[in-house]
Amino acid sequence: MTDQANEPKTAAASAGLRGVVAGTSTVSDVNGEKGELVYQGYNIHDLAKQSTFEEVVFLLWHKRLPRRSELDELKQGLSRYYDLPREIIELMKQLPRGSDLIDVLRTVVSALELYDPSARDISREASLRTAIRLTAQFPTIVAASDRLRRGLEPIKPDTRLNIATNFLYMLKGEIPPEHDARVFDVALILHADHELNASTFTARVVAGTLADMYGAVTAAIAALSGPLHGGANTNVMKTLLEIGELANVEQFIKRALSEKRKIMGFGHAVYKTEDPRATHLRKFSQEMGERAGDTKWYDMSRQVEALMMRQKSLYPNVDFFSASMYYMMGIPLELYTPIFAVSRISGWTAHILEQYADNKLIRPRAEYLGAHNTPYVPIDQR
Ligand code: COA
Repeated sequence: MTDQANEPKTAAASAGLRGVVAGTSTVSDVNGEKGELVYQGYNIHDLAKQSTFEEVVFLLWHKRLPRRSELDELKQGLSRYYDLPREIIELMKQLPRGSDLIDVLRTVVSALELYDPSARDISREASLRTAIRLTAQFPTIVAASDRLRRGLEPIKPDTRLNIATNFLYMLKGEIPPEHDARVFDVALILHADHELNASTFTARVVAGTLADMYGAVTAAIAALSGPLHGGANTNVMKTLLEIGELANVEQFIKRALSEKRKIMGFGHAVYKTEDPRATHLRKFSQEMGERAGDTKWYDMSRQVEALMMRQKSLYPNVDFFSASMYYMMGIPLELYTPIFAVSRISGWTAHILEQYADNKLIRPRAEYLGAHNTPYVPIDQR
């Protein structure tokens, strides 16, 4: 008798699991038709206008907005862990200078587990502590990796500052203008979570084996690093730099499309209309350009956007305008994907907490396309 529960549910597997509902969650919801993104019930547009990254972190982990005292407590808890163990900084100094910074982050997160005596404790209480440590330490790791790459000493975090301000401070060694810090804070809000994207799904698969949070997050960073996921934002800026001038945009895009090349920062597996995060990032890209007195990258981005709509009916995604926005903030492009992780750690940890709370090993089936009953031929007869 066949075991029906173990039989694959679909005859034709959906390529890339598009449209397959692979689990339940309250963390966030993406409505691809309407272009809506919701975190624990709150529309991303309201959060972008009124909230802060720390408040969103609380919301993702606790499923509700914090009271003032709870937010203060979380901020204190986070700032207590901003600094890295001395051994971790020493380890970072040993890594090859030219390493990709997202790979440095992945390596360091894996190593951090060895310095956390309660890493293996996956109770909600201990996991929340790990989530606080990781969310607090990501900006420090990323800023330190950039400083070391440039042959500079890492800057100690300033525990009086929020995550966004402290990150920009650790990059450059000076307190950023209030406007830049707020724009960066909103960028962190916008990248915080996005349902079962590739890296979050990866995190949940690893957590589903009851491996610890560091392991799940390390795997998530690896998934994020790919050019089809979080690696796209760096490639967007590389493309803009390669195009060089507004006058070159049309010819460049037309040629790239005729060669069937993908233009990074366009298209989305779920959104069939404007990505609501791009709405804010487009505005910030313009604002940052205007403040710096140089809207060249914004203007080029707008033209790429218009051409992509005309030629392919594709909308920009979260990675498109964030690239020119960070560039105008003076942030090196090597940092764009790690910055995505500085924000997304909040969503990954929220999903891992959710997975641990009601765990079931994630183990789908594959539609087997290979042969059956192939006779074995000994090696010297092949
Ligand atoms: N540039 C040019 N063409 C694109 C494109 C892009 N950025 N994104 C999709 N397309 C085209 C594909 O070439 C394909 O065309 P075809 O049917 O003529 O072969 C069609 O649109 C479908 O592409 P596919 O990759 O199957 O779409 P998807 O919805 O499964 O994939 C992405 C979504 C995000 C992987 C895809 O749009 C992409 O690779 N974008 C660039 C990378 C990126 O920005 N990633 C960040 C995502 S937030």
